[in-house]
Amino acid sequence: MAEEVVLGFLEKNDEISDSGEFASERGIDHQELTNIIKSLHGFRFVNAQDIKRERWVLTEEGRTYAAAGSPEVQVFLAIPPEGISLEELQRKMDPAVFKIGRSQAIKNQWLEMGKQLVTRKVIGPKEIDALKQRKLIAPQTWKGYSVRKGPNYAPKRKKFATDLTRDNLQRGDWKDMEFKEYNFSAKGQPIEGGHLHALLKVRQQFKMIFLQMGFEEMPTNNFVESSFWNFDALFQPQQHPARDSHDTFFLQVPPTTKFLPEDYVERVKRVHEFGGYGSRGYEYDWKREEANKNLLRTHTTAVSSRMLYRLAQEGFAPKKYFSIDRVFRNEAVDRTHLAEFHQIEGLVCDRGLTLGDLIGVFNDFFTRLGMSKLKFKPAYNPYTEPSMEIFGYHEGLKKWVEIGNSGMFRPEMLLPMGLPEDVRVIAWGLSLERPTMILYGIDNIRDLFGHKVDLSLIKKNPLCRIGIE
Ligand code: PHE
Repeated sequence: MAEEVVLGFLEKNDEISDSGEFASERGIDHQELTNIIKSLHGFRFVNAQDIKRERWVLTEEGRTYAAAGSPEVQVFLAIPPEGISLEELQRKMDPAVFKIGRSQAIKNQWLEMGKQLVTRKVIGPKEIDALKQRKLIAPQTWKGYSVRKGPNYAPKRKKFATDLTRDNLQRGDWKDMEFKEYNFSAKGQPIEGGHLHALLKVRQQFKMIFLQMGFEEMPTNNFVESSFWNFDALFQPQQHPARDSHDTFFLQVPPTTKFLPEDYVERVKRVHEFGGYGSRGYEYDWKREEANKNLLRTHTTAVSSRMLYRLAQEGFAPKKYFSIDRVFRNEAVDRTHLAEFHQIEGLVCDRGLTLGDLIGVFNDFFTRLGMSKLKFKPAYNPYTEPSMEIFGYHEGLKKWVEIGNSGMFRPEMLLPMGLPEDVRVIAWGLSLERPTMILYGIDNIRDLFGHKVDLSLIKKNPLCRIGIE
């Protein structure tokens, strides 16, 4: 092994003066030898000093020239470094080539014509320049080492231990072990765990915006909801197409809810059937069985309805609530739709709020997201009046994008809960996926969420800051 050769040589000698010569004398590959020297130097078994040598090598063109070559070049190359007798040289060569080549080479002063030997003349700087200009030779740097004993020199390299194992402790051999020093400047392994999904990062930023605006988070920890809280409490009639199994996932087990607040259910039934509070209602036969059906919540407004009902029971106080969590819809999956996604929901309730307050809160909220130009379009929701779709001008995409849906909850929703008559609730909802896709430049929602997501997206996604400083 080359390592033993180096250490063995230094045991008896002061120095390896030239790793290149050392390698060729012993038939060791020089690259392999330099690697070993570097390692031994690293552990201070030896001290290695760089040697650099410039030498001239034939370029490709130079090589073809030399191979087929002009006669004088052929003569020059036929002379070994140690020289040759003229007779020998002549014998080696084609007579014609020898004849022309010899006189031309002498004329060029390439040859040293000794008494006994013909030798190559050492090429001087002038000749080098000429050959360089003709691009027949090029400089090549050769790197090697001169090597001496280092402070930790030993004729045999001891393997340092890198780990203290249970076996070492049990056997007690740790006492004689020598440990490899820590390399504090070594690069660490890329971290494999602890990566956050892009949706989680964007969710966190939305959460911070809500918290900065003084909103409290609503508990969203129930994916399963009854039709009552998801639809009926929101004054969504039982024949509404969204309540069809084509749009909503209903549960087979357990198919129905066990508990609903009976007096409130009664008030909701009445408002659907006959109205009240200045409304005519829907004038249809409201069925309890329909309200009892369990489903996967289709929007987080179901959570808002529970919270507002609770607030009415506890005694009204002005509140700002938000939530960001999963919702489910029985939809055909395509580039922009999934059957599961996330909704961001906000609401403010207080006495005497107006549409102006709604627009004012939006300006504040969306400016913090970096969208200060907003447009509103009249829309329809069974539970809000008026209702508005919100569009924002996206400075990056340079276009208007739909960002959410909003409105003021209807009296048919709020008054049966028992909220005071002058309480108004402004509310809005948007998907979490949409702004995340815009931020991360993802155009297919299936690349962001679901079983087709490439794990490297999660390992490599950068932090995308939303909003303004
Ligand atoms: N629930 C609505 C939706 O799913 C969003 C919304 C929330 C609309 C609150 C108005 C008020 O799109």
